[in-house]
Amino acid sequence: MPMAAKLLYTPLEERDIDELAYALHSEAVYQYIGGMPSRADFDQWLHHSLAGPPSKATGERWISFTVRLTESREVIGRLEANIHNHLAEIAFLYNPRLWGRGYASQGLLWLHGQLREYKDVRSLWATTHPENQRSASLLLRHGYVPAATQGLPVLYSYEGGDHVFTRSVA
Ligand SMILES: CC(C)(COP(=O)(O)OP(=O)(O)OC[C@H]1O[C@@H](n2cnc3c(N)ncnc32)[C@H](O)[C@@H]1OP(=O)(O)O)[C@@H](O)C(=O)NCCC(=O)NCCS
Repeated sequence: MPMAAKLLYTPLEERDIDELAYALHSEAVYQYIGGMPSRADFDQWLHHSLAGPPSKATGERWISFTVRLTESREVIGRLEANIHNHLAEIAFLYNPRLWGRGYASQGLLWLHGQLREYKDVRSLWATTHPENQRSASLLLRHGYVPAATQGLPVLYSYEGGDHVFTRSVA
């Protein structure tokens, strides 16, 4: 397997939005995550992410990173986690042009390292559309196991019919 290029992770900023749109605003990326949004909705979602949780009452913390190739600084994707109730719900999106090169794997390992710094986080969770095989493969490759959908903790990303994966933070 070829060595993946070095990646750079920076907290999401307003000025990343156009480059993120160039990388991610496509049918392939949104096939299993709600369908292709308009460009306005794409931008609005990132603004929503930048603004943070709507109310402090839920105790949520959102972290969101832009991923770049270190050498060229090209934006290739984004990583996010919603931390609440001693768990983190994670998500990842990459430019389809660069799928199958291990960048999402590299990013996920990096995100795990970030989440280990949150001492109150005990478990990691991801929800995926049942046909999102790339996402499921990525999660299974990195120690996640399928979770039964009965008796799940509160997961804000869960929609009925989703497959759910979990692992410990360690
Ligand atoms: C889900 C998603 C991030 C997976 O991306 P990906 O490119 O398949 O994942 P990786 O970067 O880990 O690449 C894995 C593949 O690259 C191969 N690979 C090549 N070089 C590699 C390397 N150095 N390290 C690891 N894997 C490597 C692996 O063997 C694997 O191939 P396989 O799928 O044939 O087994 C991507 O499909 C995506 O952005 N989808 C749209 C958004 C989405 O649905 N997100 C999930 C819900 S939030």
